[in-house]
Amino acid sequence: MSKIVIAGGNKLEGEIKVSGAKNTVLPILAATLLNGGKNIIHDCPDLKDVSASLQILERLGCKIQRQGKTIIVDSSSIKDYQIPDHLMREMRSSMIFLGSIIARCRKAILSYPGGCEIGPRPIDLHLKALRQLGVKTSEAHGYIYCDVDRLEANDINLRFPSVGATENTMLAAVLAKGTTIIRNVAKEPEIVDLQDYLNAMGAKISGAGTSVIKIEGVSKLHDVEHTVIPDRIVTSTYLAAAAITGGTVKVTNTNPENLQAVLAELRECGCEIYLEKNAITLSRPSVLQPVDVIRTLPYPGFPTDVQALMMAVLTLAKGTSIISETIFENRFKHVEELIRMGADIMVDGRVAVIRGVEKLTGANVNAMDLRGGAALVIAGLAAEGVTIVEGVQHIDRGYENIEDKLASLGADIKRVD
Ligand code: UD1
Repeated sequence: MSKIVIAGGNKLEGEIKVSGAKNTVLPILAATLLNGGKNIIHDCPDLKDVSASLQILERLGCKIQRQGKTIIVDSSSIKDYQIPDHLMREMRSSMIFLGSIIARCRKAILSYPGGCEIGPRPIDLHLKALRQLGVKTSEAHGYIYCDVDRLEANDINLRFPSVGATENTMLAAVLAKGTTIIRNVAKEPEIVDLQDYLNAMGAKISGAGTSVIKIEGVSKLHDVEHTVIPDRIVTSTYLAAAAITGGTVKVTNTNPENLQAVLAELRECGCEIYLEKNAITLSRPSVLQPVDVIRTLPYPGFPTDVQALMMAVLTLAKGTSIISETIFENRFKHVEELIRMGADIMVDGRVAVIRGVEKLTGANVNAMDLRGGAALVIAGLAAEGVTIVEGVQHIDRGYENIEDKLASLGADIKRVD
């Protein structure tokens, strides 16, 4: 098993380019099933979750070509509508394939995603919305069985603006008969990119980025070519790394507009932030200030995916900060590991109280989930001495060679097997 070894203390300096967003590529790869044709997708990051999605597509019968960061999916012939258990377990967000498999094949069999490292990932909203489009669902032996004669449009209200449920409903409704309205949808930029992708293949969708999405069902879609939006969570990771080490880093190929909630908190910490159309430069003054309360919320609120990273930064602030995690119930697994590194954090339910300390010290720590793991890496960059991060497979789900990227900014970091 790989480990990441960091000798802390170097300020990060320089420029780094962000690639396409994992959380957009995954639903877009699911969407490739819909057109029964050619899908050319540019700026796909080279990540474990992307490879897992390609395995699923191949298993279903798609032909895949990878040319650098471009992925070409030919979905003209599909031979299966079932995702086997081992592929579902590989990546729990593979639930996102449900909407497009049912739309394309009128049947779908997927194993139940179950609990995961950041807490249960229920799918009740996904299934309820699909039932409202006419899909019959049943569950047995850990599998979900879905079938439908003809998807029929409906007026659907999501109880919570779930990202995955919004995407699955959009994917299914594209080919339904009539006009579907989905209310209380997720407003994340990734939903807007999915809308753009689907419209580029002939769908008629409007409203993504607001609370209501309207989808006029079409009977046929065509070939499509698209470039994925930049990853706002990876952008936040490099900004947090600059903030915690006290350097100046320019992140390019990013969209500052999608990061306002994160930038506001980093400014509250005292960071100076300079925005350009597609770039963000962050430099940190000598002292990091604490923040009042950060509450993770659906977009445009503070992203749950940046919670752990921000917490790492706040461990070194001059004062006490509070973080309230409202999205996922078990997303504080990094806390114990940060405490091993000398952080002073108290957790009560979904609230963490972070009292800033003078310094962190290097330790052996374990990444339990993707973003928590990234938070340990950036904590290691600022810690005195050597930090060894295990559980790197979680980090690889969402970052392309994080150690090379951070080393290019001056970090003393390497991967050892
Ligand atoms: C997506 C992202 C993930 C991000 C999260 C929140 C992908 C692949 N993953 O996850 O990185 O952290 O959005 O921005 O894009 N819920 C239900 N019932 C459901 C579905 C969700 O109760 O059927 C609840 C969940 O328990 C959770 C909340 O809704 O409390 C948010 O989940 P959701 O937005 O669906 O997150 P994901 O799509 O799983």
